[in-house]
Amino acid sequence: MKIVTVIGARPQFIKASSLSREIGKRQGIDEVIVHTGQHFDKNMSHIFFEEMKIPEPRYNLNINSLNHGAMTGRMLEEIESIMLKETPDWLVVYGDTNSTISGALAAKKLHIKVAHVEAGLRSFDMRMPEEVNRILTDQISDILFCPTEVAVKNLEAEGFGGKKVKISLSGDIMFDSALYYRQKMKRPEGIDPNQTPILVTIHRQENTDDLQRLKNILDALNGLAKEGEKLIWPIHPRTRKIIEKQGWTIDFDCIAPVGYLEMLYLLEKCSMVITDSGGLQKEAYFFNKYCLTLRDSTEWVELVENDVNSLINVTEPQLKERLRAYLNQKIDNSNYLYGKGQSAAHILDDLVNYSKE
Ligand code: UD1
Ligand code: UDP
Repeated sequence: MKIVTVIGARPQFIKASSLSREIGKRQGIDEVIVHTGQHFDKNMSHIFFEEMKIPEPRYNLNINSLNHGAMTGRMLEEIESIMLKETPDWLVVYGDTNSTISGALAAKKLHIKVAHVEAGLRSFDMRMPEEVNRILTDQISDILFCPTEVAVKNLEAEGFGGKKVKISLSGDIMFDSALYYRQKMKRPEGIDPNQTPILVTIHRQENTDDLQRLKNILDALNGLAKEGEKLIWPIHPRTRKIIEKQGWTIDFDCIAPVGYLEMLYLLEKCSMVITDSGGLQKEAYFFNKYCLTLRDSTEWVELVENDVNSLINVTEPQLKERLRAYLNQKIDNSNYLYGKGQSAAHILDDLVNYSKE
């Protein structure tokens, strides 16, 4: 059996690492990795392949830093040529980025079966580029690997139950990765092991491209720092570029993006998480940390329902007070909202079983 995996953004390297490791344990499965190049800085891409021992991509398309249409279109064209050459049994894509939708669309038009890992998630906010990508990818997938029961229900509500596609509740493959790499976590250089800072990440378009919103967030975080809270922010290049352009200052520890092993160390040590990331919201839960999500909606609704995550309205002038109210809450994660960390094996079993249908 041959699988082509299309990845391009940081969270996809982390997710794909677990399926690649599972493929490596079995006989007779060939995986061809295509890196679209969407993320390309050493610490946004190469570091993950190196530290996590992800197999080298056979193709690197080097397509990045473009508007949505141009990026997606150029990826589509390149991936189509690769599909014609490789003729795999499956195309596997992860999540909801521009790399996800281009991979899925290229394969579908060639009648190559598409597997979507992290299917069925919805924020119900079509202004988010991720929501557009995930809805369209689900529509053209042949097997939909859902991380949660909510994701299965979302698909059923959209009529997927009656379609000739397979919906498979696989659990969350990010939990497989967190469990495996947790043993290998590394302290980032210059980080004091005795500190328990608030871990911050912000990069989503709805926060970074609305300058007033981004300024509100920055003012609130700087305000917390001024009052003596310790914060650490591995800053995404998208956010760094905008803050630098505006000439705004960050009055607390801000470091370059770190590899996953270093990120796991920060998750282990932190007092809580403040983020707009999809992945970080779950990782906070995996590490028993409370998460404040700087967004109007989340696709990980079970975290909010279980009182371990709060959505914060970032347009509020009282943002700093809201953040302060949630500091240092402890959470219980014994209810396994994301499965037991066996998703990669489940996914691969299904791919083998359904490859001949
Ligand atoms: C993308 C995904 C988003 C995901 C995020 C993960 C889409 C539409 N968005 O957003 O869903 O949450 O990845 O991190 O696919 N840049 C660099 N160096 C890099 C990577 C990016 O400088 O290594 C810069 C780009 O030049 C661009 C900006 O960051 O100016 C945004 O990059 P892009 O890939 O378009 O989107 P992300 O914000 O990373
Ligand atoms: N991450 C990382 N280094 C960092 C910031 C994040 O390894 O400096 C990891 C994080 O632990 C999570 C994933 O990247 O596993 C989340 O990716 P990101 O927040 O970029 O995207 P999203 O999940 O929002 O799509």
